[in-house]
Amino acid sequence: MRTQVGIVGAGPAGLMLSHLLHLQGISSVVLESRSRDYVEHRVRAGVLEQGSVDLLRATGLGDRLDREGLRHEGIELRFDGESHRVAMTELTGRAITVYGQQEVVKDLIAARLAAGGTILFSAEATRLSGLESPSPVVHYRYEGRDEELHCDFVVGCDGFHGVSRSAVPDGVLHTYERTYPFAWLGVLAAAAPAVDELIYAHHERGFALYSMRSPEISRLYLQVPADEDIADWPDERIWAELRTRLETVPGWSLNEGPILEKAITPLRSFVVEPMQWQRLYLAGDAVHIVPPTGAKGMNLALADVALLGDAFAAWYADGRTDLLDDYSRTALRRVWRAQQFSWWMTSMLHRLDADDPYEAKLQSSALRYLTTSPAYATSLAENYVGLPAV
Ligand code: FAD
Ligand code: DHB
Repeated sequence: MRTQVGIVGAGPAGLMLSHLLHLQGISSVVLESRSRDYVEHRVRAGVLEQGSVDLLRATGLGDRLDREGLRHEGIELRFDGESHRVAMTELTGRAITVYGQQEVVKDLIAARLAAGGTILFSAEATRLSGLESPSPVVHYRYEGRDEELHCDFVVGCDGFHGVSRSAVPDGVLHTYERTYPFAWLGVLAAAAPAVDELIYAHHERGFALYSMRSPEISRLYLQVPADEDIADWPDERIWAELRTRLETVPGWSLNEGPILEKAITPLRSFVVEPMQWQRLYLAGDAVHIVPPTGAKGMNLALADVALLGDAFAAWYADGRTDLLDDYSRTALRRVWRAQQFSWWMTSMLHRLDADDPYEAKLQSSALRYLTTSPAYATSLAENYVGLPAV
């Protein structure tokens, strides 16, 4: 098979890139190791920055998002038995929209298939070759056979565990990383959200986050130790811990309901530089991971491919290479802003080393400062809703 741009991975990055290329008249094929059903039901992130919403709308994907997405103009910080609102829209003029990642993925798949696009599900890329030539190849397994996809460029959108990054020879890429001694236990519950806005709660037993997916579905997270086993968390224990960490404000209680899904996700900060080598471009989780506290993962993936869409358009329209050459440098500015913001939110809100009271005092001071200083609160807000330029 031959196409102009070969894309590995049908997450938000790969699908959006394929959609953007199609709008520019550039052909692409997306190879995805999982089934369509699996990627459409994988529960992950839920917060879209203003810039991501603008991108989805501008490319014809705003209909269901505008009907079902929940626009939020603030978030709540809860600590020391008090609750404080960060008025994001008042401070920045921008807002976030709560809309599940799997809904973005469903909308993108529907748009690509309606336009006659090719997405091969259950097609696992096994290796890349010829990246230094004008015609690189993605080797993949499909329906029990070894196949080849020949293209002009390969874009690795295959997430942290994908194969694309490892196609770059040793010594070229530089890795920056940090691991955390805790993870998030995330649940999806059939319970009406008890609030209209997200609650980020700092508690002596650990961080908790109250989010939602719809007027009927709540999405909740608990900080747990990094090596925690989900089997040790029966539903009643989860609700009890959520009550302890979130019901700290007089007169407020959460709504409980059947837990539809639960999983533990490790927290990690990770960046690989540069995001390109020869005819291979890397985007999204394949080259950078943020801890989820800043809600940046999916937004960064979309921002990367927005740059690549423009860069390929310039190359195919009139042979311009400047945008492709600048891709890594430009994308990394946003990536590092999100890294710093996500690390800061994570450090401020989680229970850190229990034996270090100095850290706990710094956290309290930072949280208090956010509630008294419009300048500090604006810094949080403008990063959270997404910076137009970085
Ligand atoms: P992905 O969505 O990971 O897509 C990569 C795709 O490539 C996958 O579909 C994968 O199956 C496919 N693939 C991998 N290897 C191959 C191969 N060899 N051949 C073909 N296909 C391949 N962010 C938040 O902001 N908040 C959250 O609560 C949150 N929760 C998360 C929970 C989990 C378990 C994970 C893993 C991530 C979470 N994130 C969260 C991060 C966010 O979901 C990601 O940043 C986002 O999915 C990145 O999109 P992507 O397209 O780069 O990668
Ligand atoms: C959600 C996830 C996040 O990581 C976050 O910071 C806020 C909300 C969510 O899944 O709704």
